[in-house]
Amino acid sequence: MSQQKNPLGRTGFETTRLGFGAMELAGSAGATADKAANRLLGSVLDSGINLIDTAPDYGLSEELIGKHLSHRRQEFFLASKCGCLVGREPAFKDGKLEHDFSAENIRAGVEQSLRRLKTDHLDLVQIHSSPSRALVEEQGTVEAMIELRKEGKVRFLGMSSVLPDLADHIEMGVFDVFQLPYSALQPEHEAMITRAAEAGAGTIVRGGVARGATAPDHDDEKDHDFWRGFVRDRRDLWTRAGLDDLLEGLPRMEFMLRFALGHPDLHTTIVGTAKSEHLASNVAAARKGPLPEALRSEARRRIAAAARAR
Ligand SMILES: NC(=O)c1ccc[n+]([C@@H]2O[C@H](COP(=O)([O-])OP(=O)(O)OC[C@H]3O[C@@H](n4cnc5c(N)ncnc54)[C@H](OP(=O)(O)O)[C@@H]3O)[C@@H](O)[C@H]2O)c1
Repeated sequence: MSQQKNPLGRTGFETTRLGFGAMELAGSAGATADKAANRLLGSVLDSGINLIDTAPDYGLSEELIGKHLSHRRQEFFLASKCGCLVGREPAFKDGKLEHDFSAENIRAGVEQSLRRLKTDHLDLVQIHSSPSRALVEEQGTVEAMIELRKEGKVRFLGMSSVLPDLADHIEMGVFDVFQLPYSALQPEHEAMITRAAEAGAGTIVRGGVARGATAPDHDDEKDHDFWRGFVRDRRDLWTRAGLDDLLEGLPRMEFMLRFALGHPDLHTTIVGTAKSEHLASNVAAARKGPLPEALRSEARRRIAAAARAR
């Protein structure tokens, strides 16, 4: 069975509902890691996935995609980000990675992405890190993106957005695609995914398997400090909601992914992995389609009750 597809909002691109998030390739330095990245990225396309998400902030990710997939560029929709710092390492400030949304940095970032990715255009450039509408307007961020679109360097404009700024971002009416966090264990954006889709935008969901928090082989030691608390909280919510009782033999990760795929307005979910065996199991799970609706509803009910009981 091939990967299920649907249109990515007004872009008209027929995206596979399972996409690929390339953040996990960030630290793939050295000959062995390079070989593994080559194999993994080839398998992403060989398995039929046709949308890849990356960012200048993800270490070696853009370079590896350029090195190993530029000869197959016509086989996938390439999404990257802008607003990431060019020329120096970003610092963490107030729990967030530093960004610069000025017109100059937007242009420098996209041109750097094109060089790293060995391509002449991005299919989608998304503003990273959900800056407020006021900041974006003050900095001329969108105008810079529109210039790049006129020059053919990017095809569609997007925003990696979160509450509370998301409603403003939708209202701006300039974004073709929104990237949003969503999973069974992080349902806060559930209604806003629908609102973005109803506005005609494409919806890319990240965090669809809650960073593997409930996977039996999840290695907490490898989690970045930034994610450690998130992973612990999601695992705790899974346990308090008693979701193991609903599995009936399904692996937890399959349950998580097929739950996310049940959101009717999710166009693609860019599950990230650096491991071929995880990619293969995610591809197999996505081919089965969403969880049965009754099971999904019961999981939602239990999660909502457990979250309220906190
Ligand atoms: N816009 C933003 O601000 C933003 C922020 C974060 C992420 N993103 C994008 O979204 C993508 C995905 O988001 P995410 O990485 O935060 O969350 P995610 O896709 O929910 O989780 C990825 C994590 O889950 C693990 N995993 C995946 N499949 C698994 C499986 N079958 N079994 C066990 N573990 C599995 C991976 O570890 P292994 O490598 O061990 O498989 C990885 O650490 C990223 O790659 C990136 O492109 C964007």
